[in-house]
Amino acid sequence: MSAQTKFQTQNVPVAQIVGALSQALDITEGQPKGHSARCCWIGLQIGEALGYAQQDLSDLYYAILLKDLGCSSNAARVCAHYITDDLVLKREFKKLDGSLPKVLAFVLTHSGMEASMAEKFRSIVSTLRNGKEIVREIIDTRCQRGAEIARQMHFSERVAETILSLDEHWDGTGNPEQKSGKQIPRFSQIALLTQVVDVFNTGEGRLQAVEEITARRGSWFDPQLVDVFLKLAEDDLFWFSLADEDLPEKIHTFEPVQMQRVADEDFLDEIAKGFAQVVDSKSPFTAGHSDRVMIFTDLIAEQMGFDPGHRRWLRRAALLHDIGKLGISNAILDKPDRLSDKEFEQIKLHPVFSAQILSKVEAFGDMVHVAGGHHERLDGKGYPNGLKGDEIDLNTRIVTVADIFDALTADRPYRAATPTAKAMAILDGMTGSAVDPRCVAALKQAIEKLERLPQSSNEKLAQTA
Ligand SMILES: [Fe+2]
Ligand SMILES: [Fe+2]
Repeated sequence: MSAQTKFQTQNVPVAQIVGALSQALDITEGQPKGHSARCCWIGLQIGEALGYAQQDLSDLYYAILLKDLGCSSNAARVCAHYITDDLVLKREFKKLDGSLPKVLAFVLTHSGMEASMAEKFRSIVSTLRNGKEIVREIIDTRCQRGAEIARQMHFSERVAETILSLDEHWDGTGNPEQKSGKQIPRFSQIALLTQVVDVFNTGEGRLQAVEEITARRGSWFDPQLVDVFLKLAEDDLFWFSLADEDLPEKIHTFEPVQMQRVADEDFLDEIAKGFAQVVDSKSPFTAGHSDRVMIFTDLIAEQMGFDPGHRRWLRRAALLHDIGKLGISNAILDKPDRLSDKEFEQIKLHPVFSAQILSKVEAFGDMVHVAGGHHERLDGKGYPNGLKGDEIDLNTRIVTVADIFDALTADRPYRAATPTAKAMAILDGMTGSAVDPRCVAALKQAIEKLERLPQSSNEKLAQTA
């Protein structure tokens, strides 16, 4: 049983939170909904067939659910190199076997439709020259970052190691370290196998999935592991269970029973921080944004006299406000020029996606209105719903002010940061029509207080932020 009170969450299973958030990773990878959950389920079947103990199954469970934690960190690079939509490319890329001719054919057919021939040519030449190196680099970033985030969220070292070696192949042709055979952690091999099964089964069907795994026996995968899978694949019930549309929603019920973990308040902080990093890693334009919005939000809340429990809740809401950006292509997020109307319509979807993702996570469900409403304006001219005045609550108004303040004062690759005083003046000009004057005044007072602190205290504060 789980119970939830405002600003305090009790007894929510970790598996429920991670299972729901894994769907955010699926959209970043351009995978059909439920990809990570289905991979996790396949992995558990393999683990059980291999006779794994509960502790092992538990590590395997979380490692596969979180295998794509680093997925956003290479999105900008993928998009810049292949001049295309990172979500589409990442989905299709998982089907390639890594050979250069296939990668080239892929670049030819997938390089952005809006890219000029000259850009397309540049991408092809660059792939010809550095193809392997680029793929290695892209995978390296993804694996390193994913493992790092898993460690920060206090998952076991085994979970982190599995993510780190996810793309290594049995014959040593994988990435990033070209490990081979038994050098590759067993769970990484299982995770990669489940990924190939799900990508092909979802896209092209059961027969194709079995064919792909069989074809990669001894090259990508340990032959012994392939045989275990092929045995499972003979059973119709395996495919029938995998096809269950509700599987993603109920993946938390498959957590190994004896190892079930319940989330405490500290864990909820860690998971919010972890997913904020996944969001901020997606685009070089927004590095550190969620963290800073969290800090500015907390400064405002403290100044307004919110109690510690409320502040903690609001910090998490601030960390997760832009989680829906995972569903927006970097071709749009990283565009330094003015966005077309069509592109702006896409951007307007990110608070909708944020709300959708959080609504699936029981522990964060009461933050939906903050995440979904952080681009609304008091005069009703905001997006996505054109909410007005009282329809926007105080928590949301605080995050909105923190969000705008950070957007103004952060360095962007295409423009310098706006000085604090000027940013405050801009916010002042927006009070009443767009933002709540009380929140702007609280931010101003909090910043003035900080500026009055001796330099050494500010440095200390920056270190602990
Ligand atoms: Fe936003
Ligand atoms: Fe934001």
